[in-house]
Formats: sequence, C-alpha cells, structure tokens
Amino acid sequence: MSSSPKIPTVKLYDGVEIPVLGFGTGTAWYKPDRFSAYNPDAVTISKDAIAAGYRHLDTAEAYGTERELGQAIKESGVPREDLFVVTKTVNSLSEGKIEDVPTALENSLKRLQLDYLDLFLLHSPYLKNDTYVESDVAKVWKLMEELQRSGKVRSIGISNFRKHHVENLLKTAEIKPTVNQIQFNPYLQGAPEYAKWLESHGIKTAAYMGLAPITWLKGNHLDPLLEELAEKYKVAKSTILIAWQLRQGIIVLNTTKKKERVEEFFAALNVKLGEEDFDKITSIGQDKHLRIPTRSEFLATTGMNNLCAGKVGLTENDQILARELGKLPPHLVDYMVDEKARRFFWGLGLEPDWGDSKPLAVAILTVFGIDQRWEEWRENALNRYEGDERLQRLL
Ligand SMILES: NC(=O)c1ccc[n+]([C@@H]2O[C@H](COP(=O)([O-])OP(=O)(O)OC[C@H]3O[C@@H](n4cnc5c(N)ncnc54)[C@H](OP(=O)(O)O)[C@@H]3O)[C@@H](O)[C@H]2O)c1
Repeated sequence: MSSSPKIPTVKLYDGVEIPVLGFGTGTAWYKPDRFSAYNPDAVTISKDAIAAGYRHLDTAEAYGTERELGQAIKESGVPREDLFVVTKTVNSLSEGKIEDVPTALENSLKRLQLDYLDLFLLHSPYLKNDTYVESDVAKVWKLMEELQRSGKVRSIGISNFRKHHVENLLKTAEIKPTVNQIQFNPYLQGAPEYAKWLESHGIKTAAYMGLAPITWLKGNHLDPLLEELAEKYKVAKSTILIAWQLRQGIIVLNTTKKKERVEEFFAALNVKLGEEDFDKITSIGQDKHLRIPTRSEFLATTGMNNLCAGKVGLTENDQILARELGKLPPHLVDYMVDEKARRFFWGLGLEPDWGDSKPLAVAILTVFGIDQRWEEWRENALNRYEGDERLQRLL
C-alpha cells in the first residue's frame, strides 16, 4: 500500500465506535481442528493487515486463530486502544456447559494476550447439539451482559442470528446486542431488508461472505454485471461488492491469504456506486436466492449427524444416492467433487480431507441445488466414464 487509509468508524448504539472495514482470521485461516498447530503465516498476514491500516480485527475461538492474532497485535506496535478486537464464543458452550461464558472469554483473552475485548459475539444461536433452545440463548446472553458490565468487554453482540432468534432474544435482553454478524451479499434476497429491520432495533449488521458472488457462488447471473462495473469504475470486482455493502451502512469483514488483496478491499472506501449501478446489483442478485448455510444451521436443518448414522435427514432417494456414491472408487468421487464443493464443506467447518463425507457432499450439494455446475459435472462424468455401468446408472 502506498499509504494507510484511515478507515471510518460508525457508532454502535452503546456509544462504542467500530471501524467499517474489518480483517478476519476465519475462512482463509480457519483451522478445521482449532487446537492444531500455530500458524506463523496467520501472524504475518494479520500484521500486514494492521500495517496496511486495518484496526478492526475479527477472530473466534472456533477459527483456532486467536493466538496468531494476539501475536500479530503484540508485534504490530499499534497501541491497544487504537485497535478494535472482536472474538466469538460457542464451541466452549457447546462442548461444556452453557454457563461457561466467562471462562470462554478468559481463555480467548489469554490466547489473544489482551485484557479486554472491544466486541464479544455469541457465534451462533445453536448451542448444545447444534440445536436452538431459546431459554439457553437467553441464559448465555445474561452472562454476556455481566461481562460487559464488568468492563472486560466494551460491547456485546451476536452472530448468525436469524430474525426469530433476535426477536426471542429481545424479549429478555437487558442490554441489546449491538451487532449481528451474518452472511450478506447480493444473492441473499432478504439481507438488505433484514439489515434494515436490525437497524430499527439499534443493531448494526456486520457482513461476512460478502465476496461470495466471486468465490463460492461464482458462475452465476451477477458475473457479467460485476465484470462491467469493475471495468467502469476501474477497480476489482471484490471492490464493487464491498462498495455495495458499505453503501447500505453495513460493517464489512474480509479475509485473504494474499496481502495484495487488502488494497482491493480498501479501494471500496473511495468508490461511490451510482444509484443505478447499486440498484442493478441488488435486483440482479435477487433473481435467485443462493445462501450458504452456516455449519450449525446446516447440521440443524439437514440432521447431518443423524443422516450419517443412517437415521433421518434427506429424502430416501438422496440417502440412496449418498450411499451409492459412497461405494464409488475415490477417483470418481474426486472427479465429481471439485474445488468448489471442497471449499463449501471446508467453510462449514467439516473435514477438508473428508473421506466418507465426500459422497455425502455430492448428494447434499445436489439436493440443495447449491452448485449450479452439477449438471456440468454430470455430463462430463457420463462422457468420461462411459464404460462404468454403476456410474451411468447413478447419474
Ligand atoms: N460469524 C461467522 O459465522 C463467520 C463466518 C465466516 C466468516 N466470518 C468472518 O468474516 C471474515 C471474512 O470471511 P469471508 O469468508 O466473509 O471472507 P471474504 O472476504 O468474503 O472472502 C474471502 C475469500 O475470498 C477470496 N478472495 C478475496 N478476494 C478475491 C478476489 N478478488 N477473487 C477471488 N477470490 C478472492 C480469498 O481468497 P485469497 O486468500 O486467495 O485472497 C478468501 O479465501 C472471516 O475471516 C471471519 O473473521 C464470520
């Protein structure tokens, strides 16, 4: 970067100021096993992000990157009070007792080498057994309120809460959440309206997966428009997507493994999308609803654990497909499950080297219609493996 831009802040209803662009250490840096080895590259990229001008830094106990972020903060030389550090809890609560919120915070602070947090989020409304229990979430929230009162945390919020989860929480909350960190991109039809609804309750939307139209969901109907606008504004497509979010007052989180991308992210601060271009992105994006379920939602809605145990979940046909695909030689499955599907499951926190879940992945991607290229895979597989009767029968 030639010079570090000053990232604007917005005021949360509790008076805490949050920078509108944040750098995350999930997704690209997420460790499927959060206790696995320390990753020095995550320290380097976080330091690069801070040096480039990022002050809002996002992590979670689930990502396994708190230690790396803490080290980067320490080595950055930037005063603590100039940074806005966010982490989230849910794993400790799912794996232990839901009363473990203060311990979860203490452990996160230790890993981050910090003595307070700027924002502490409840990562998901799905706690024990990936199930949503309204009264449990209310109990956890009470404990989070205590943490804010104690001064260990400046602000408290939520993540991956859908409207009914928020409505339920507001029935008992004494301190309302300041932020709901959710998926937000043009392919989520309800997202802009939901953000407005949250705002009407004083809750700011922080967005992740904003770049999904050029990553996970690439190859869909927004592609030509994004090409056109990137050309028109002389910026990257990622910049256009971030500018679209910022124009709606959304707090934007991004991540990358490549430090040169940071410049593309910051460029969005200087792009003023015209009304017509903004509307076009919104309306074309809304032609089709494409949403990647979070891991908990996914498990909750598909009953994947049960499905693996052969109980319930997908339709009988889908289960047959999953089972049949499971019998295929691995190279055939590899052929069909391309990088996109792999990343999809990896993003849900499932094993990237997924072994038995690979065939299930194919079945589920098909069932959800998540991968538009299934037909293409099918065609290719049919042509390439003409002689394989079982595959012919399956496909
Ligand atoms: N609350 C939650 O449940 C939750 C869930 C997910 C994420 N998050 C937070 O949000 C942060 C951002 O995550 P995200 O998934 O939303 O990140 P994102 O910024 O939407 O996407 C990041 C991914 O996009 C790729 N990318 C960036 N620019 C690109 C371009 N121009 N062309 C092609 N690929 C490009 C990056 O790959 P390269 O490495 O190649 O650049 C990276 O893998 C996370 O780090 C985490 O802190 C929260």
